[in-house]
Amino acid sequence: MTDYSIDFNFGGADTMYLTHSLHPYPAKFPPQLPNVILSKYGIKGQTVLDPFCGSGTTLVESRLLGFNAIGVDVNGLSTLLSKVKATPLSNEEIATIKDFISLVENENFQWSMNRPQIEVKQIEGLEHWFQHNVAEELTHLLNLISKINSENVRDFLKIVVSSIIVRVSNQESDTRFVAKNKEIQDNFTFRQFLVRAKEYLERISVFSQKAHKECFLKLINADSRNLNMLEDGSIDMIITSPPYANTYDYYLYHKFRKRWLDIDVKFAQNNEIGSRREYSSLKKTAEQWTTDLKLCFHEMFRLIKKDGLAFIVIGDSVIKKQLIKINEVICDFIPEIGFEVCNVISSSLSEHSRMFNPTFTQKDKKEHLIILKKY
Ligand SMILES: C[S@@+](CC[C@H](N)C(=O)[O-])C[C@H]1O[C@@H](n2cnc3c(N)ncnc32)[C@H](O)[C@@H]1O
Repeated sequence: MTDYSIDFNFGGADTMYLTHSLHPYPAKFPPQLPNVILSKYGIKGQTVLDPFCGSGTTLVESRLLGFNAIGVDVNGLSTLLSKVKATPLSNEEIATIKDFISLVENENFQWSMNRPQIEVKQIEGLEHWFQHNVAEELTHLLNLISKINSENVRDFLKIVVSSIIVRVSNQESDTRFVAKNKEIQDNFTFRQFLVRAKEYLERISVFSQKAHKECFLKLINADSRNLNMLEDGSIDMIITSPPYANTYDYYLYHKFRKRWLDIDVKFAQNNEIGSRREYSSLKKTAEQWTTDLKLCFHEMFRLIKKDGLAFIVIGDSVIKKQLIKINEVICDFIPEIGFEVCNVISSSLSEHSRMFNPTFTQKDKKEHLIILKKY
């Protein structure tokens, strides 16, 4: 008899090791969660899917433990970030990044002696959200990155630039969309880039030594209600956390970053499920949330092999002032999809604070780990 109880007491554990700390992303789960699941229920060499991969937590742990990993997310910044965090780099690629850092150190020095006039990249809201000197330095960094041949190196450096964008913009903070004059000095953007680039390089270098090179990693920017690009029965295990309805707008969160990196904003805006904007405006109903989740679970069932397990972390929500106990909703429709429920482990965050998602703290709501099996 398989034991489906899992001890999730991760309080105080370091959740930021290796590449897990690269770049901000909201509502990440702790890396210990996929780590424990993969170690207990997985077999090295199997293929793991995260259809809501976010910042790539499941994928990084998969690569560290010797699993093939497929990540899907509707948000283009998420798939880029996940790819960078879970892709081990070659010594040659690491050397190219070091050369690039030296190049920017030199540019930083030259610009402090004699600042050139350059044509700034035009993005929506540029003047309101970015000082001109910041926009010049960001444009210059992205122009230099675009000349690099290696796609892995370009992607890594784009993520470094992306990570500093809110800090150097007029946006008050990652979670507050209020413009504030930060009086950013000339060359501050270059210096921020250099600090981050060195830190991230150190992290990706250690990750690259530890990660299993023989496994494959695939990222797909798609809507997980329809994953027809993936074959039936091609997945051994699913570890994922869909959005918690009416809690976040992932597509809004990284708006300026996506504009600077030329990542499409509309696709995520039109296809994100559970978005706060749609549900808090009372436009969408609890029935709509159930319909969207059902489509995702149908796809998960189709993709997973016989005897495969799916581990779903999901939270309750309030829709039209009504508390939606999502474990009950899912357990209600799941037999019709074909999965069997092996276990549901729930946590009230007011009692056991910060089990999965540290930002999800409203009382009465619970988070659940739902373990499903395809027989
Ligand atoms: C709770 S977060 C996942 C966080 C992830 N476990 C981590 O540790 O970073 C949920 C993710 O679902 C994504 N998402 C929302 N709607 C989606 C859809 N229709 N298809 C695929 N991904 C979607 C969001 O962009 C977000 O990245």
